[in-house]
Amino acid sequence: MSKQNLKVKENWRHWTPELAKIFLRCGPEGKSHPSRVTVLSLVEGLSSILDVGCGNGVMFEMIRERRLDLDYLGIDVTEKLLKVARQLFPADAHRFRRISLYGLKSLRRNFDAVVCRHVLEHLPDYAPAVQYMYSRAKKKLILVFFLPPQPLSSGRKRDERFERDFYNHTYDLGKFIHHLSTELSPAPSEIRIHLHQGGGDSRMPWADRQNVIYEVMRPMEKGSLNHSKMKRTDKVTQYRKKIL
Ligand SMILES: C[S@@+](CC[C@H](N)C(=O)[O-])C[C@H]1O[C@@H](n2cnc3c(N)ncnc32)[C@H](O)[C@@H]1O
Repeated sequence: MSKQNLKVKENWRHWTPELAKIFLRCGPEGKSHPSRVTVLSLVEGLSSILDVGCGNGVMFEMIRERRLDLDYLGIDVTEKLLKVARQLFPADAHRFRRISLYGLKSLRRNFDAVVCRHVLEHLPDYAPAVQYMYSRAKKKLILVFFLPPQPLSSGRKRDERFERDFYNHTYDLGKFIHHLSTELSPAPSEIRIHLHQGGGDSRMPWADRQNVIYEVMRPMEKGSLNHSKMKRTDKVTQYRKKIL
């Protein structure tokens, strides 16, 4: 993988603290955005979540408000946004760490769900990022796009129409699906696509595009079914012993 593939080109780090605090927290892109609400329904019943590109902690705020019992870790490269999250949730400050998704190998643990919302569009390429994140997911990887992959003409991998100060890519739909279904290791057991997950900010040139969520299901590890069955049997046996 070339260094160019991993280059981050962004401008959030130059923002004022005030802007960093309200970024994607308030307004149409805030906590009531349908794609955020759907993500929370997709992680219901799971026990841990890694929020990649967590920004200023909006997702964590929603998890706390809904009292979801989720072991949460948020990672991001923009210290200014992480600082806002730590200030808002001082008791949970350790849950917001400055780690790039390209450094996920250094993280020792895996999570039931890895969520990545509105980040892949800002990268030079989705492929290395998706594999890094998928490797950390025990059950599913949830990818949310505000610029959903679309069929592009003449074999292009991405459309850079919205590029200004940073990457704002629309990826080719066919190539993206092909990547998810044939190039990930291990191959996903299922890929669920959730369409029409809320529009963008009306001031943005991509306002007419609806968010799309890709839920990439990891196959169950060998033996894990037997293991959980065994656990259940053990519990029943213990219960029987108790009542006899
Ligand atoms: C558009 S914001 C989305 C924030 C949040 N996921 C949300 O939906 O509110 C993109 C975020 O991705 C982060 N980001 C960009 N490149 C990253 C990387 N290589 N590793 C981790 N985070 C990254 C940025 O710092 C920024 O906080």
